[in-house]
Amino acid sequence: MRLASKDLLGLADIEADEITLILDTARDMKRIVTGSMKRVNYLQGKSVVSLFYENSTRTRVSFELAAKYMGAHAVNVSVSTSSVAKGETLIDTGKTLEAMGTDIIVIRHSQAGAPHLLAKNVRSAIINAGDGMHEHPTQALLDMMTMREAFGTLKGLKVAIIGDISHSRVARSNIIGLLKMGSQVNLYAPSTLMPIGIDQMGAKICPTIEDAVENCDVIMGLRVQLERQKKALFPSTSEYSRFFGLNPDNIKRAKKDVLFMHPGPVNRGIEMTSSLIDADKSVINMQVTNGVAVRMALLYLLTGREEA
Ligand code: CP
Repeated sequence: MRLASKDLLGLADIEADEITLILDTARDMKRIVTGSMKRVNYLQGKSVVSLFYENSTRTRVSFELAAKYMGAHAVNVSVSTSSVAKGETLIDTGKTLEAMGTDIIVIRHSQAGAPHLLAKNVRSAIINAGDGMHEHPTQALLDMMTMREAFGTLKGLKVAIIGDISHSRVARSNIIGLLKMGSQVNLYAPSTLMPIGIDQMGAKICPTIEDAVENCDVIMGLRVQLERQKKALFPSTSEYSRFFGLNPDNIKRAKKDVLFMHPGPVNRGIEMTSSLIDADKSVINMQVTNGVAVRMALLYLLTGREEA
């Protein structure tokens, strides 16, 4: 089985059985990531270019490692020192990379829809590594991989997503993906950070953190995205932490074996206390490991299409 599209633009565009295929492939790829010989030839002769218009550690490095572990040529474009800084358009940049033989372009952009625009204008496969406040599909896939690994299935899981839902492409992709896979999603955010109508996607908006985490299998904190807020949406980070941050007291109604997750980077002590971030039940570092496996799976499934 292959992915239906040449690109991975968002979880809204793919079916549940494609998500399962990606997660199954990532499970196999994880053996390479955690083994002592991190080298296979599945992508030998292929070229992967990362084009990040926004900062990143996890996503950019894990795509680069994923490509290299599978034998591809992997290049990172530093947007600030590229011809983008001279005014080159996104489409012209994409066509330029394609003209050099690039098979896959991984793009992160502050504008929602930028990966979709690129995908329409180049033959290379496009992977969305985060577009504005829209989607971050590879993050949600690695989150779902981490949950499935812990519980064996996503069906029937109860997941609480807490924090800045409004600005979070991670929350949006997780809501879409988890609901497609049969999980239940509870949301809690300060009212200024809860987008109107988000419950129409099928998630439940809860009045308090304690209600949101009740009987949950997973609690996912979200980063406070100060850089995306055009005006102050809460008084201060210390008030945010006091009233909206996750701590050992306000998560007591969750299940005993609840997992703590966070997409990173974490603002320690603001959206989550260090005692939760570093707890035995925290899988934040496992999310990062699984991120390499998921990205290997996607590069493999997308470049493998032409041979299918
Ligand atoms: N979670 C995530 O996208 O992290 P980076 O911004 O470091 O890539």
